[in-house]
Amino acid sequence: MNNELIRAAEEARKNAYAPYSKFPVGAAVLTSSGRIFTGCNIENASFGLTICAERVAIANAVASGEREITALAIVTNGAASPCGACLQVIQEFAGSKSPAIISASTDGSVIVRSLSDYMPFGFTDFKPDSDV
Ligand code: THU
Repeated sequence: MNNELIRAAEEARKNAYAPYSKFPVGAAVLTSSGRIFTGCNIENASFGLTICAERVAIANAVASGEREITALAIVTNGAASPCGACLQVIQEFAGSKSPAIISASTDGSVIVRSLSDYMPFGFTDFKPDSDV
């Protein structure tokens, strides 16, 4: 499954819009129902409006009715880690088991960690009281 997720992220990376950083990123999330959703980074001339690949993938999943992520893969030059903001967004849609975070490099190397490795004490204290 990790390989399938990495391949999906690689494919999404081809659509990255990164004319400013020249650092294309592809992401793919696996949801608890077994579906895969992808994203790429989307930059903006107003730099702060850039959206990371991970959050685009998660937004795609949530917009399709999915609420639980079991794994996320990102593909970059050099097997990058998700940024802190993305880790918090992954946390929002993590189930009871900490999702696997798979960082794959374009040279083929792969690092597998979990969300709790990155963020053992993430903010989870504010619980929604409905499914709206
Ligand atoms: N980027 C991501 O897409 N995901 C991350 O977790 C970190 C950074 C993007 C944002 C920007 O387009 C480029 O990588 C360089 O920071």
